[in-house]
Amino acid sequence: MPMTSAYDLLNSALIHYRGQPVGTSASVDPSPAAVNYHECFIRDFVPSALVLLMNGEAHVVRNFLVTVMQLRGQQPVLEGHKRSMGLMPASFRVVREGDEERLQADFGERAIGRVVPVDSAMWWMFLLRAYVITTDDWEWVGSEEVQTCIRQILDLYLRENFEMSPALLVPDGSFMIDRRLDVYGYPLEIQALYYGTLLSAHELLTRVGGTPATLDNLAVRIKALRQYVCVHYWVDRDRLNEIHRFRGEEFGLDVANVLNVYPESIPEWMDGWLDARCGYLVGNQGPGRVDFRFFTQGNLLAILFGLATSGEAQGIMNLFERHWDLLMGEMPVKIAYPAVIGKEWQMVTGSDPKNVPWSYHNGGNWPVLIWPYVGAAMRTGRTDLAEWALQLMKERLHPDNWPEYYDGKRGGLIGRRANFHQTWSATGLIVAHEIFENPANRVLFERFTFQAAASS
Ligand code: GLC
Repeated sequence: MPMTSAYDLLNSALIHYRGQPVGTSASVDPSPAAVNYHECFIRDFVPSALVLLMNGEAHVVRNFLVTVMQLRGQQPVLEGHKRSMGLMPASFRVVREGDEERLQADFGERAIGRVVPVDSAMWWMFLLRAYVITTDDWEWVGSEEVQTCIRQILDLYLRENFEMSPALLVPDGSFMIDRRLDVYGYPLEIQALYYGTLLSAHELLTRVGGTPATLDNLAVRIKALRQYVCVHYWVDRDRLNEIHRFRGEEFGLDVANVLNVYPESIPEWMDGWLDARCGYLVGNQGPGRVDFRFFTQGNLLAILFGLATSGEAQGIMNLFERHWDLLMGEMPVKIAYPAVIGKEWQMVTGSDPKNVPWSYHNGGNWPVLIWPYVGAAMRTGRTDLAEWALQLMKERLHPDNWPEYYDGKRGGLIGRRANFHQTWSATGLIVAHEIFENPANRVLFERFTFQAAASS
């Protein structure tokens, strides 16, 4: 029974600290691909948290939120630099020394490639909202410690840097795709999470602790970000046609081709990729640069959080339907399409053997993506698509022992270096199953109060 086995995996993944469950390990594979897979990753805990919230175990989520909150700002600081108190770790583990236990966090200083976890504090804010929606524990959200934490996160994420746009500028590998893959700059997943974070903060602070100035500022930033993403990331046939006929080298304030994108940069695979019913948000953009690759998580979160308009959301789901074989294949859901190959693979990944074409982050299929997929399908009324995807997963994931990812254009092979018993492969399926059976649970990641007023 796949669901029973998924729950068993979740239970065996629980990490205890001083007698209390505080998180889940990324995998319970006895011989995982990397030593840190026994740690609790903040992003990996998200579907675990949603399952726990749906099943009356909100206290575990609160323990997790407290733990990560207390670990924030403990990153090593470079000489002469100032500590950012709003930064949260990528992962943490419990170190046992005799009878003593202590927590050890990793802010990327021990991670492969030293990547910074920009997404952690954003997921934390998202889970704080989901927790309080479930429990009504507003007293805790209003407490000094939580209010300080929210303030410090906003200080860091709203801080001026080198802004030319309302989007958030980040280094490579700063989110789920935590290796080099040309995802520095303004990757879509970060922008979608950023939007969700600002909405969550606005909702929380409106109820407790927000000054009018803070709320006004958040509202302005939310609207600006949404407007910007709609203009610069959305591509459908009409927009593609505009880009196809763009003139370059336009100078001044009032120009059409703001980022100076050359039509010659439209990749060949885009020819025929869209029909009149389809569209999507591109993976990244910057000066002279549109990354036309389709990144699934960013598009799905954009639907869930209402960053995509309802028309755009339909267009994205139509794209999944049109390219079912390529984007869903034998095991949903492809993380990014298409893979980078050949010389481009060498340049973009630094010849990373884990990210060879159609594997891992470079076009592999990731079961965890089923929960935002089913959430997005339900939100757009495409229960047919949700059902097909769920059926595929229920047939294979359990007999395959819950792999982390699959390889191949159609995702038919178990990932070459994938862990087995990967927690978020199981919890992702539980969340998807639960929201399919009981759509009211979608409130945990939808229906933001500010969104309702602002959305079009
Ligand atoms: C890999 C994934 C990352 C995940 C981690 C633990 O590094 O890319 O997103 O958090 O494994 O599962």
